[in-house]
Amino acid sequence: MNPKRPIWYLPEKDLVQVIDQRKLPHVYEVYDINNCDDTVYAIKNMVVRGAPLIGVTAAWGFYMSLKNKTSDDESVLELEKKINGSRPTAMNLFYATKKVKEAVLKENSPEKRIEAAKRTAEEIEAAEIFNCQKIGEFGVSLIEDIYSYKKDVVNILTHCNAGWLACVEYGTATSPIYHAHEKGIPVHVWVDETRPLNQGARLTSWELGQAGVPHTVIADNTGGHLMQHDLVDIVIVGSDRTTVNGDVANKIGTYLKALAARDNRIPFYAALPGSTIDWELEDGIRNIPIELRDEEEIKYIEGLGSNGVEKFLVTPKHAHAANYAFDVTPARLVTGIITEKGIARAEKDDLLRLFPEKRYNR
Ligand code: MRU
Repeated sequence: MNPKRPIWYLPEKDLVQVIDQRKLPHVYEVYDINNCDDTVYAIKNMVVRGAPLIGVTAAWGFYMSLKNKTSDDESVLELEKKINGSRPTAMNLFYATKKVKEAVLKENSPEKRIEAAKRTAEEIEAAEIFNCQKIGEFGVSLIEDIYSYKKDVVNILTHCNAGWLACVEYGTATSPIYHAHEKGIPVHVWVDETRPLNQGARLTSWELGQAGVPHTVIADNTGGHLMQHDLVDIVIVGSDRTTVNGDVANKIGTYLKALAARDNRIPFYAALPGSTIDWELEDGIRNIPIELRDEEEIKYIEGLGSNGVEKFLVTPKHAHAANYAFDVTPARLVTGIITEKGIARAEKDDLLRLFPEKRYNR
């Protein structure tokens, strides 16, 4: 098994398929997206996850849904609403469905509307691949700089999975790492396990292992200790939504890494495409919707047992658990934001310097 992408379109079957990320790394299975229900199920239940991939899946799902449905204005708006209801935090979801809806509503005939949905899905997918490639090209300079004075292995800490599995290619936080590795810069990645669903332990370590990037999985609470002992040179994470002021929402636990990084004077960067920036929001802590997921995800843990992938209850059966999926790192703790247009300080003016069109055209 050596897949290169988490999503693909099969023209011969006119079908969209994704890797079922719930099963990795132990089982490789493919999930078909035929319609709106499949799309919503895949996003909600995290068959696919990671902000850019959620956006790309939503766009392709919009196309698959429209193909089999009436495409009058009301149905199109209803589809957008249904897909948008699948997860609340990742900006890319709303960015993608809005783009598809607008392209579709410009056309009059059903055939042209379906064509427009497909073309827009292809465009969004291609743009995210390009964005992640550019994030790597810009972000690698940060790792090169550290290597130029350290002259030894650069230790990078990352949280969750912001790799190609979460995007389409390269990843966001991992793209500078892959670029550095390809350039022969010695890197080592501390991979936060990322409870409750272990995206770091299951997915990031799988990805990095396939690419031959040296890495070590750590329990989520380890980062602070490593930072106090000079074992982390830079933190790079992804984002689900970043406000125009540079507040960064990402997987729960990211904020604590940023606090520890600040306390230890370690640079903390968020890597994200423009499609993750919410140009309408300023205060991330107050205004970014934080997903609250099922408490079962906290109470149980999954892994490979003697009967294949098994699920185990960790807590007492009737314990209550609270499953906040994301947190917000305030801009003041973010050293910089790596985007496809360059690296900005985590503040409005500098983000607008990179995306000047957003001054005029929301
Ligand atoms: O709940 P998930 O797995 O969808 O959360 C993913 C993350 O938090 C990622 O860090 C983020 O989406 C950036 S992906 C490039």
